[in-house]
Amino acid sequence: MSAGPGEIILAPMAGFTHSPFRRLARRLGADRTWTELVSADMILRKGIEDPLLHFTPEERPLVVQLFGNDPETLYLAACTVAEKLRPDGLDLNLGCSVRKIVSRGAGAGLLRHPERLQSCIRALVLAARNYGLPASAKIRLGWDQDRLEEIATLLATEGVSTIVLHPRLGVEGFSGRARWNRIRDLQNLVGDKVLVVGNGDISRWEDIDRMREETGCAAVMIGRAALKNPWIFEEYRRKRGIFREVRERASLALDLLEEMARFFRPETAAKKIKAFLAQLFKGIPRKKDLLPLLLTAPDYRTLCLLLRDLAGCPPRD
Ligand SMILES: Cc1cc2nc3c(=O)[nH]c(=O)nc-3n(C[C@H](O)[C@H](O)[C@H](O)COP(=O)(O)O)c2cc1C
Repeated sequence: MSAGPGEIILAPMAGFTHSPFRRLARRLGADRTWTELVSADMILRKGIEDPLLHFTPEERPLVVQLFGNDPETLYLAACTVAEKLRPDGLDLNLGCSVRKIVSRGAGAGLLRHPERLQSCIRALVLAARNYGLPASAKIRLGWDQDRLEEIATLLATEGVSTIVLHPRLGVEGFSGRARWNRIRDLQNLVGDKVLVVGNGDISRWEDIDRMREETGCAAVMIGRAALKNPWIFEEYRRKRGIFREVRERASLALDLLEEMARFFRPETAAKKIKAFLAQLFKGIPRKKDLLPLLLTAPDYRTLCLLLRDLAGCPPRD
């Protein structure tokens, strides 16, 4: 299976959940990680050298997520990934609602075309089976109409072992509330044939059990809340939330920045981490003065110095 019962999983979030962040989430108690969506076309053109596909053993169990809308390309890309990287599962993105992806007929755009969807998922499942790997799909309710039952039946028939459901329509983006009752409907529909992972609008550790109780889903996936509070996984295990002061947040950010500097180049890391910092320092009373300072830091060295200062670390030579 691409996920196990009871797991709390870090959601894929493009631009945020790169290899260093996934390691951090695993250290803090996430049971499994997922790569952000990777283009099947790109894999065929350039191979597996892209940093999007790099992962370390500490990130396992790890599922590689592909997107595309051509079955043959998906099949070949999935075989390449399975053979060369040996992830713990292969996933098809059927939830991304970003225009660039949807206009290519991929992501949530594929939910509009059941026949093509069927051949794409068939290709992914076949490729995964060749290498003894489980296949999964991460879906929304539909593009502009809720077609959950039709989509889920198709996916189950094609042999996916896991379905991750973010219960909004593609056209809704992130607006409104995630309709958890549809996670329950999915669970009732597939029974124990497919493992259901519930996703959407978990904001505090208490929501995890609430989602499981209300929907009966086997596992839970957490996205945006893990950016604002990466400790959410640990808090869930301890059944206790703790407000993290600036010092602790800065210390976590500094460790991540240093790890990112080794993975990307330092200056790339300094640019990339800023979107995460904006999330991490949300909800801090001193945010108004703090964030602009961090976000306008001109280079890696300055950002490190600022974070070290906020974390209360002694300056380095
Ligand atoms: C910045 C960002 C990037 C995302 N990138 C991906 C992605 O690459 N693949 C994917 O399946 N979902 C992606 N998602 C969707 C999340 O995995 C998740 O389904 C969604 O955020 C709902 O969960 P949440 O309410 O816990 O955040 C992304 C979401 C965000 C906010």
